[in-house]
Amino acid sequence: MKIAVFGTGYVGLVAGACLADLGNEVICVDVDEKKISDLKKGKIPIYEPGLEAIVKKNFEEKRLTFTINAKESIENSKIIFIAVGTPQSESGEADLKYVFQVAETIGKNANESKVIVDKSTVPIGTAKKVKEKASEFTQHKIEVVSNPEFLREGSAVKDFLEPDRVVIGSDSKEAAELIESLYKPLDCEILITSSESAEMIKYASNAFLATKISFINEIANLCEKVGADVKEVSKGMGLDNRIGKHFLDAGSGYGGSCFPKDVQALQKIAHNVGCELSIIREAENVNKKQKTIPVEKLKKEFDSLEGKKIAVLGLAFKPNTDDMREASSIEIINYLLREKAKVIAVDPIAQETAKKILSGIEYAKNPYDAAKGADALILITEWNEFLELDFEKIGREMNSKIIIDGRNIYNKENLKKLGFKYLGIGR
Ligand code: UDX
Repeated sequence: MKIAVFGTGYVGLVAGACLADLGNEVICVDVDEKKISDLKKGKIPIYEPGLEAIVKKNFEEKRLTFTINAKESIENSKIIFIAVGTPQSESGEADLKYVFQVAETIGKNANESKVIVDKSTVPIGTAKKVKEKASEFTQHKIEVVSNPEFLREGSAVKDFLEPDRVVIGSDSKEAAELIESLYKPLDCEILITSSESAEMIKYASNAFLATKISFINEIANLCEKVGADVKEVSKGMGLDNRIGKHFLDAGSGYGGSCFPKDVQALQKIAHNVGCELSIIREAENVNKKQKTIPVEKLKKEFDSLEGKKIAVLGLAFKPNTDDMREASSIEIINYLLREKAKVIAVDPIAQETAKKILSGIEYAKNPYDAAKGADALILITEWNEFLELDFEKIGREMNSKIIIDGRNIYNKENLKKLGFKYLGIGR
């Protein structure tokens, strides 16, 4: 199948490369000339495990190409994916200007009937509007399919090729079946719905997962007060198949490019039709508070944090990515700085990203250097590199042996034996 993918960001590039890997002829389009010329040289703009290899392989085998020429890519493709950004507008809604720009471009350049696939996360009703927009500029038949992306950063390629499910929403049976055929090689359930339901499935899934995390974080905070350990509690809860064990890890709150944005956008969508989503609103509030908890814990350990040296392990919003959008580390570090603490941070991949976002902190090469003279250590991102540390060595480096385990990854008994004061989340 001949496919064009508009937008070579996270979603577009992964989708394009994976669709090529499934045997399709894919052309990825972007307005950013530098990005396209870099991609042609095999330079991948984001850090994502497995992506570089799959891009390189399919580029060399000529199933994957890159261009800034929108016209040619539309003329050559029956199916056109829209995977451009939908940034958050000031009001909290998704800003659809890039999506509609692409729709217009498709309409203007359509040389035959086309099937447009919305991959970007868009408000309910957008598929219909995209169809109207593109159809304004052409006599050819335009069908639109909503095919939301559920990939997680850090495992995006795997998530695309081994999904739990594929959702295809359209009011055209023919278009839905065409897109279904693309995913047939994958061993997963394919659900065909209306475009509105497909758009809602994306928002509702992310809001549910975010709520699940905030739920366990609230339980964690209660566990602390009543002497329970949230790790044991979430394990016990997760063994119930109705609840499920995933997304029940208490910690310093959720971040990333999706949950915070989608949780707000869904509330806005609801508000616009006179509906209030009180559970989801509280999930957001709990999350904001959760990001302050590591510092609140630290404040109880010292009369003042002024001049205290705090080692921070992990900056990315989660492991295996250099992405720091809405990362808990930003809230935590800025709070520490407001309290006039000195911060020395370390992250295996996200330090360069951090330098553009955070100011007034130092960086260390590794956790041992960060721990030198530190009055406390906060673990924020559970990178593999931080799981098995030599805590005897870390303890020798530190000024006072206090550990705030913001993701509950360490063995609290072992650390206590080594003379640390261990403070987890809900333990
Ligand atoms: C998420 C969705 O999982 C994905 O389906 C969607 O397409 C995009 O948004 P992503 O943002 O990449 O993916 O990360 P995810 O792995 O879901 O984690 C999001 C945040 O939740 C991270 O900050 C993570 O640390 C936090 N989290 C996750 C928890 O605090 N506890 C958990 O149990 C799980």
